[in-house]
Amino acid sequence: MKTAIYNRYGPPEVLKLVERPKPAPKPDEVLVRIHASSVTAGDYRARALDLPAGFGLIGRLVFGLTRPRKQILGTEFAGIVDAVGDKVRHFRPGDRVFAYPGGSFGGYAEYAVIREDAAIAHAPVNLSLDETAALSFGGATALDFLRNKAGLKSGDRLLVVGASGGVGSAAVQLGKHFGADVTGVCSTPHVDLVRSLGANRVIDYTREDPAADSEAYDVILDTSGTATYARYGGALKPGGRLMLVSASLWQLLGSLLARKTKGRKAAGGYAPERAEDLRFLAGLAEAGQLRPHIGARFTFDRIAEAHTFFSAPEKAGNIIVTIAAEQAETAG
Ligand SMILES: NC(=O)c1ccc[n+]([C@@H]2O[C@H](COP(=O)([O-])OP(=O)(O)OC[C@H]3O[C@@H](n4cnc5c(N)ncnc54)[C@H](OP(=O)(O)O)[C@@H]3O)[C@@H](O)[C@H]2O)c1
Repeated sequence: MKTAIYNRYGPPEVLKLVERPKPAPKPDEVLVRIHASSVTAGDYRARALDLPAGFGLIGRLVFGLTRPRKQILGTEFAGIVDAVGDKVRHFRPGDRVFAYPGGSFGGYAEYAVIREDAAIAHAPVNLSLDETAALSFGGATALDFLRNKAGLKSGDRLLVVGASGGVGSAAVQLGKHFGADVTGVCSTPHVDLVRSLGANRVIDYTREDPAADSEAYDVILDTSGTATYARYGGALKPGGRLMLVSASLWQLLGSLLARKTKGRKAAGGYAPERAEDLRFLAGLAEAGQLRPHIGARFTFDRIAEAHTFFSAPEKAGNIIVTIAAEQAETAG
């Protein structure tokens, strides 16, 4: 099978297409013929070994000390079940599925195996597999930070800093689903996109300071790595929560240790990969409340270009890598 591998950290060109044997599913595994994967911040970070300041050593411990431990990237993918192990109960050959292996990767190949009890779910019937491939990374991260960590509830005022990105574009839509009044923050070219995702208002950070409003938000979610409690604490209402999806170690420690008034809080952390979250996201997609924004599409042979595009200022939403374009697509 055609597979993109890398065996050293570096620029996009470290990704090479090679032939690898097609895997066979173990008794508890599902073999998926992959239709599409994506270039997420996770893929970018693991390829370039570009971690937020202070997390370099942790990054090497996770991804491999001197060279990548896992040669196949691809944090999320969607496709069609090709075969299942004899203990698999919930998936059958021919099922449309999506999976979120996260840091286990594996999406940059024509086939991947994943355990039935890992983060895999049936694809929403109304989305193409291209769109479905981009549902998990941003969706599951935004869901965990907004619902589980911040306890966002109906009527809350939510500020999403980095609203045009993979995580932020999902956060805007999830915020609306939970009944929040959503303000999105992005750069000038992406203002219309963020408005189209459902944001009640949009702040262009190149023209206005998103932290300027005093005691305005119940929850502030930052995906851009630009927030600290020192900067945004005053924009939180009493009892408000600052969620740091992306932060350097120093930003994180500074925000966690900062003296906070009026019950305000700050939190960071890792958003896990869970099948129940994928099912929740698929349900929202089917209800018309969540649709991943596809900012760019690349064919598999252009995987290095897709990674280059991740760092381009025009990049918005999700970058899809179509792996099996000829595969029969029924939805979308
Ligand atoms: N904690 C976890 O478990 C977890 C999970 C997933 C991701 N992450 C991290 O979350 C981060 C975001 O991921 P992503 O996929 O959403 O990345 P992304 O698609 O690159 O999005 C980045 C966003 O930041 C915005 N931005 C850039 N500079 C800004 C500034 N100065 N002020 C305000 N906004 C700015 C961008 O807006 P414009 O393009 O409009 O400028 C864009 O909306 C990454 O660092 C990733 O590693 C963490």
